[in-house]
This record gives sequence, C-alpha cells and structure tokens, in this order.
Amino acid sequence: MATNMVLASAADFQPPSAYEGRMSEDEGRRRMVRPPTGGTAAGRNVKKKLKTAEGRTLSSQQWLERQLTDPYVQRAKAEGWRSRAAFKLIEIDDRFRLLKRGVRVVDLGAAPGGWVQVALKRGAAAVAGVDLLPIEPIPGAELIEADFTDPGVGDRLIELLGGAPDIVLSDMAHNTVGHKQTDHLKIVALIEAAADFAIETLKPGGAFVTKNFQGGSAGDVLERLKKSFAEVKFVKPKASRADSSEVYLVAMGFKGRS
Ligand SMILES: C[S@@+](CC[C@H](N)C(=O)[O-])C[C@H]1O[C@@H](n2cnc3c(N)ncnc32)[C@H](O)[C@@H]1O
Repeated sequence: MATNMVLASAADFQPPSAYEGRMSEDEGRRRMVRPPTGGTAAGRNVKKKLKTAEGRTLSSQQWLERQLTDPYVQRAKAEGWRSRAAFKLIEIDDRFRLLKRGVRVVDLGAAPGGWVQVALKRGAAAVAGVDLLPIEPIPGAELIEADFTDPGVGDRLIELLGGAPDIVLSDMAHNTVGHKQTDHLKIVALIEAAADFAIETLKPGGAFVTKNFQGGSAGDVLERLKKSFAEVKFVKPKASRADSSEVYLVAMGFKGRS
C-alpha cells in the first residue's frame, strides 16, 4: 500500500527493549532457533554482519537478524510505515471496517507510530496517542510521552482528541521481566486499564481493539467486554508472528455506559 508519510524512523532499528520486542525477547530467542526460510545470499550477508557486530548482546543480535530478514519489516520500510505492526491494524481493519472516514481514535502504546499512520491514512479525523517512549511527530495526530496508567493521562488524551473517541486501540506491551506470573499480571493490568478506558470514554457504537496473549489473558475483562459490546472477536493477523502467543481482541458496537 502506498503512503506519502515519512519513512520508517530510527525506532525501527532499536533493540528489543525499545518497542516491538518488549513482550518478546524470550519469544525472539525461541524464534531464532529456526532459521529464516529462503535464506540464501541475503541470509549469508546478515550472518556476516552479525559476526562483525561486536558489543551486541545475543538477544540484540537475534532481534537484528530477525528485523533484517522479516518480510513485513522490509515492506514497512518500502511503503513508509513506521513499524511492521502497521500491517496488523491494516488486516484487522480490512476485516472489520472500523476506521471509517471522520472517526476519532485513541492509540495506547503508539510508538513508533505505525497504527497512528494507518488510522490517519484510512480517514481518521483526529488521533491522540500515548507511549512511554517519545514518538516523532505525525501531522494530524496529537502524541504524548507518558505512562498511560498514570492518573490524568486518559483525560489528557480525550482533551487532545477534542471529544469522545469512536475507536480505542491498544497495542501496549510491557518489558518482560522473565518471571511468568509477574509478566502475566503486567499483561492483564495493561489490558484491564485499556478496557476500562474504552468503556469509560467510547461513543455508543464505538470499537475497542487490544493486544492480548493466548493463555495469558484476562477472563474478567473478556466477560466485561462481552457485556458492554455487541460483538467481541479474537483475531490473529498474519503479520503477528505465528510462534508468538499474541492475538488481538476486537470489540465492536459499544452499548454505552450503563
Ligand atoms: C508493540 S509497540 C506498539 C507499536 C505500535 N502499535 C505501532 O504501530 O507502531 C508497544 C508499545 O507499548 C508501549 N507501552 C507499554 N506500556 C505502556 C504504558 N503503560 N503506557 C504507554 N505506553 C506503553 C511501549 O513503550 C511500546 O512502544
């Protein structure tokens, strides 16, 4: 898909702790056990680069190798999306047609900005995004650097958006600590915070999309979403790595606050 927006930023080349690898440094290690398919000359070049890349940790090297061989990363660069994650939202939106012209969108965990770009490209009239990391400006979007779970950040986003959202998106992923139960609690806390915000702020008829993890998910949240929305679906976009437990929850037809 062509876009006239800025090319992938330096954030695409940050090490795992910076954004997309946040959830998945361990997953990354597992993934790299299997060599990338079709690796011929390009693959050898990658290896050569990595051998000379002194000073990198093993997980950074693995992350870099994955970035260099991932077709979605290449496509994102070629088409001007700031992240490969953009393709996940494109696929979700192709299926559910959420991003109608003129919608107001809140994007939680927005860095480096791929989903913001997709929302604007597909006709959003306003986008307000937040991330722990700084996000390079994107014309048409209001982007702040903050912890979404801090008091007042949700209100600030609504203020920046200029009214209630039609869509709340959350691709938030925390830095894993490697302790399964702690990581599970952190995942659930982010999903709950995003769901609370969506239920408190969405316009009737609105939609909520959140990153979720198979087997690590929020049973209570799911029940609440089923009560508050006409329809709730789980989706695994093709751009979501097959060996990752990541799935997305798409809740549509918000019934309004009761
Ligand atoms: C997978 S990335 C998002 C990619 C983004 N959807 C895109 O298309 O470019 C996940 C992001 O969630 C952010 N994040 C995690 N916890 C957060 C929090 N409490 N508040 C704000 N952002 C958070 C991380 O900093 C990270 O940049």
